[in-house]
Amino acid sequence: MSDFWNDEPSIEAKLQQVSSLILTSIEQSNPFIRELLIDRVTRGGKMIRPALVIIGSKLGETEREEEAIRLASMLEMIHLASLIHDDIIDGSRTRRGIPTLNSIVGPKQAVLAGDYLLSKALSLIKGEEGDLKASVVTNAFSRLCESELTQDAEVGNFLISSSSYLRRIGGKTAALFALSAYSGAAITLGEKYQQYLLHRIGYCLGIAFQIKDDILDYTGDAVKLGKEIGKDVHMGIPTYPLIAALKVESNNNFENRPLFELVKHKKTLSKKASKKVVALAVSLGGVEKSEEFAQKYINRAFIDIEKINNKEVQSLLVSLFTKLSSRTI
Ligand code: FPP
Ligand code: MG
Repeated sequence: MSDFWNDEPSIEAKLQQVSSLILTSIEQSNPFIRELLIDRVTRGGKMIRPALVIIGSKLGETEREEEAIRLASMLEMIHLASLIHDDIIDGSRTRRGIPTLNSIVGPKQAVLAGDYLLSKALSLIKGEEGDLKASVVTNAFSRLCESELTQDAEVGNFLISSSSYLRRIGGKTAALFALSAYSGAAITLGEKYQQYLLHRIGYCLGIAFQIKDDILDYTGDAVKLGKEIGKDVHMGIPTYPLIAALKVESNNNFENRPLFELVKHKKTLSKKASKKVVALAVSLGGVEKSEEFAQKYINRAFIDIEKINNKEVQSLLVSLFTKLSSRTI
């Protein structure tokens, strides 16, 4: 597990239990894949989704600890499975500082290992988790897959609108964040309005998180991040720094638009051309615009956090938002 939760020992202790349950769930897996899956779990990321379940579960009258750990593990396993599949789609060689499954065992075994993790994740749901609605769970999973499908179908189209981008990241990241925060409150029977607020807060956090992730692909440090950077443009995926920079460029001088010239009609860009695109987007202020855009969602979430009727949950959410706002990994 990363040291992201060092300063919140109560959350960190629960996340240790989440990691243990995930490890138990996969211990029967095919020996061929077991150690590699264990590596992914123990290498651990920031575990934001399970942490959101645990934070949300403090809203209800009873903590329902066992259910919270089970749900949190399920959501982290879905996330891990989606990353394994994402690395196959992107052909990525490293994630979290270790080689991707795809690069070790090839796409066939990696797809199956992701599917296995997915099936083990679903086996953690019993169908009797407080107010948790199956439709909210399945809707988030469908959105996750649909967004990846749209993103892939549109690879090479750099001229997408901000609203298409928002819909895309809403599905691929925010939907699972929203589901996580809502799940905690739903299993512990928090008030319906509070459950709804947590869903919205999770959604805004997910949007801000993904915008930040997309900024890091332009400005981040590959070693610190543990994955390759500068891949989005090279792979034909437009994200907010580019969308914003294109807008600035066309507002500045519609006749002379070198960034637009580089990306219009381009299905794929060479490494050299993508580097040029990244440099131009940065110099046009695409990163600052993206920071401002992410901040809008953080501010929106803070308005909702004020309406949460539990001081501990409020403070945990504020500290999570604050930590994520300044993240470099
Ligand atoms: C990482 O984002 C990828 C995701 C958040 C979602 C991937 C989802 C799928 C592949 C759909 C399959 C879903 C399941 C449940 C198996 P990114 O590519 O922007 O970030 P990165 O730079 O970390 O790769
Ligand atoms: Mg990816």
